[in-house]
Amino acid sequence: MDKNRILPKHIGIIMDGNGRWAKKRLLPRTAGHVQGAKAFRKCARLCANKGIECVTFYAFSTENWKRPKDEVNSIMKLFGEYLDDALETAGDEISIRFIGDPGPLSDELKEKLRYVTEQTAKNTRMILCIAINYGGRDDIVRAARKIAAQGTAPADITEDSFSQELDTAGLPDVDLIIRPSGEQRLSNFLIWQAAYAEYVFMDVLWPDFGEKELDAALDEYSRRNRRFGGV
Ligand code: FPP
Repeated sequence: MDKNRILPKHIGIIMDGNGRWAKKRLLPRTAGHVQGAKAFRKCARLCANKGIECVTFYAFSTENWKRPKDEVNSIMKLFGEYLDDALETAGDEISIRFIGDPGPLSDELKEKLRYVTEQTAKNTRMILCIAINYGGRDDIVRAARKIAAQGTAPADITEDSFSQELDTAGLPDVDLIIRPSGEQRLSNFLIWQAAYAEYVFMDVLWPDFGEKELDAALDEYSRRNRRFGGV
């Protein structure tokens, strides 16, 4: 690990490859999500330990509802279980936030989201942001609707004012997007916020993503910044 590396302020992580991880082991896809949830918990802790200010994990997209009902239910169940432990893992360090449209989630999950957000809001070491029923286009459309509802004059809409209506209001723009599993696309994740991001695509499947892979992505980010930084 390079001790002098330049850290991204905000990392976005697309947790991809759970299904393939399970398939390789002749297990049901849901077993891949169980391992994926473990990798998520571990990675969030690693980010906090490494001094990352903000990390956003893509847990469920607006398109993921098209998956078989059993699979959707198992992801929602894992998410609920995580929320039950979230206060313990956050301690007095991590502030947990959610982005996405909570509308279609169960009332029970919505209540848990609200409670966890409220209880961890004052923590300052790191913001852990979880994207659930999130789509970048949906984020932009909902922001546009809010602005229209406020009756703002068109000339008063700026990039900054628009950003403040997005789900990520108040968070820094994302500096680094990490996507494991070999796919090389953004899949509707933080499309506005990643306008200037560096992208690191990795061949590992998400359940196998650990400290070695996070360090490799951070080193790669730092190298790119060094090359283009300065005069
Ligand atoms: C993508 O892999 C993964 C998802 C759509 C779900 C991610 C969910 C978790 C990691 C667990 C629950 C989350 C939390 C926050 C506790 P894929 O299923 O598309 O994999 P594949 O491309 O190999 O089929």
